[in-house]
Amino acid sequence: MSYVVAIDGPAGSGKGTLAKALSERFNLLNIDTGAMYRCVALKSLQENIDIKEEDKISEISKNINIELLDSGKVLLDGKDVTKDIRSKEVTSIVSPISSIVKVRENLVKAQRKLAVGKNVVMEGRDITTIVFPDAKYKFYLDASLEERAKRRFKEYQEKKINMTYDEILDNIKKRDYNDMHKEVGSLTRTEDQIYIDSTNLTIKEVVEKVSNIIEKGKKYEKIKR
Ligand code: DC
Repeated sequence: MSYVVAIDGPAGSGKGTLAKALSERFNLLNIDTGAMYRCVALKSLQENIDIKEEDKISEISKNINIELLDSGKVLLDGKDVTKDIRSKEVTSIVSPISSIVKVRENLVKAQRKLAVGKNVVMEGRDITTIVFPDAKYKFYLDASLEERAKRRFKEYQEKKINMTYDEILDNIKKRDYNDMHKEVGSLTRTEDQIYIDSTNLTIKEVVEKVSNIIEKGKKYEKIKR
């Protein structure tokens, strides 16, 4: 039986790095749902659509052709947009775009379809609550605001993406608020998620913690059978 590892958490909490490590360790398909919302934002920019034109943006999300490759590359209509979707312009409009209910409906449908019959690790904001509320493993990964901004800043410097620490801090603050106050699919903590605060943990420690939980679950499955 196939299974889902669902990870939610705020921007910069380390979900992407954790998901990548888990996908390699347990041979899981890695689905970065944030990248999908970013592709909708990028395509809206490319087509000069204003964020208030919700119908047009919803139409884009319905017909969009996104490929998430094993290498981590993201293709939009067959073109490599891995770097473009992390730009300042995309980052500043992605949260309001992800608040459009129709956009969410279309992308949630696409996310479920991508996972059919496969073992996957999927990360985002509503994976444990809306996309796969019955996932076998559900995690909420957190870290302090300052620590998350620090990590993003380092990541962006390495990727040569031009954003200052203060810009990133301000953007994360705004996105936190927006992501937690959506009409549908807001970032929420629930009783059945395993909560991990990674502020004072290395990525290796987080991966070990989560991997141990998955290993235990797998052992338990074997005993049950
Ligand atoms: O994880 P990220 O920073 O790349 O996500 C980009 C935006 O997309 C983020 O501001 C919230 C939104 N998002 C969402 O609403 N639901 C998801 N499942 C994933 C991301």
